[in-house]
Amino acid sequence: MFEALNAQPADSLLGLIKTFNADGRDGKIDLGVGVYRDATGVTPVLKAVKEAEKTLLKTQDSKKYLGPEGDAGFAERLQPYVLGTSERIAGRIAALQTPGGTGALRLGAELIRKANPRAAVQLGAPTWPNHAPIFAAAGLKIETCPFADLKSQTIDIDGVWQTLDRAKEGDVVLLHGCCHNPTGMDFSRDLWKAIVEMLAARRLTPFIDLAYQGLGDGLEEDAWATRLVLDSVEEALVAYSCDKNFGLYRDRVGALFVISRDSAETATVMSNLAALARVNWSMPPDHGAAAVRIILERPKLVQLWREELDAMRARINGNREALAAADPALAFIRDQRGLFSNLAMSRSQAAGLRDRHAIYCTDSGRINLAGMQPGDVDAIVAALRAEGCLRELATT
Ligand code: LMR
Repeated sequence: MFEALNAQPADSLLGLIKTFNADGRDGKIDLGVGVYRDATGVTPVLKAVKEAEKTLLKTQDSKKYLGPEGDAGFAERLQPYVLGTSERIAGRIAALQTPGGTGALRLGAELIRKANPRAAVQLGAPTWPNHAPIFAAAGLKIETCPFADLKSQTIDIDGVWQTLDRAKEGDVVLLHGCCHNPTGMDFSRDLWKAIVEMLAARRLTPFIDLAYQGLGDGLEEDAWATRLVLDSVEEALVAYSCDKNFGLYRDRVGALFVISRDSAETATVMSNLAALARVNWSMPPDHGAAAVRIILERPKLVQLWREELDAMRARINGNREALAAADPALAFIRDQRGLFSNLAMSRSQAAGLRDRHAIYCTDSGRINLAGMQPGDVDAIVAALRAEGCLRELATT
């Protein structure tokens, strides 16, 4: 039967890991896949995680099954950091552990498909390249709308309004909670307020992807928009990832939070999530989530984690500052947030950076600011100039 299959291209982001590793040139620079790197180029295991893992090693006396919800203590401890403690959502939250943010998105997508197969998912363009395939794989219809104009590095506000206007009741709107991937452009607080009013008035369901909390402006600040949305609508989903802010990447640590109208509906939602998890992965991998739970149970480890998170954020924002200061055409990078900015380059310009300068970014021109080492700025800016990447940005 397998002769019926067509070969698939490597994933556009994960494929970059292999091509970068295979490149033997000295001084190569990896601005590709979205992982944090410290000033020596290393993606470290956080000290707080190491401490939690030591405790886990000492105290874990069984690896018996936990069930499709995963580690309930993990989701319970994480929830206030993400959703806050508003009375308005108390008793209305179904929360469970998932294999990374991707697992949370897929589980949420399947829940939507089961509850309302006619719902279309409104995706802003550009977005994380895996969003559309995940929703499509769950059998949902996708409608794409403009989110940003990369030449002028501005949010396409008209496009956002047109989308919210055009979406039909019950449609799902995918929103990046903070640190937009791939543009680094987040809505202002005023814009969020207006969007939330529109979501509530048009009875659209927000699905927030929150994968970079703490790497933009701060742990609380980066959750502000999510909490505003949840305070204002009856139903919502939040796909959460601990991969970046706890540095747990391949341990696959995430959570899905679903807010429904009342506690009876929440119990039904939870039973459906458990059933969907069971037929996908049965239960999520334990180790990373158990480490996060241990951190969140211990104030000293919380403090250590927050200090490490603050240091990661300071380094990313310092790199933003350095690149923005290096050429007026890159000044916009200063005000963007998170790991990414998108330099609106063509495929051939991205290939030129890679082939002639050993600088790796995505084919769409997304750069990972956390991949820059001190001292890389001049080489990056010189290569961008040589490949003509700054010309169009400079003219806007
Ligand atoms: C990225 O966008 O580079 C990261 O989120 C890694 C991934 O899984 O795609």
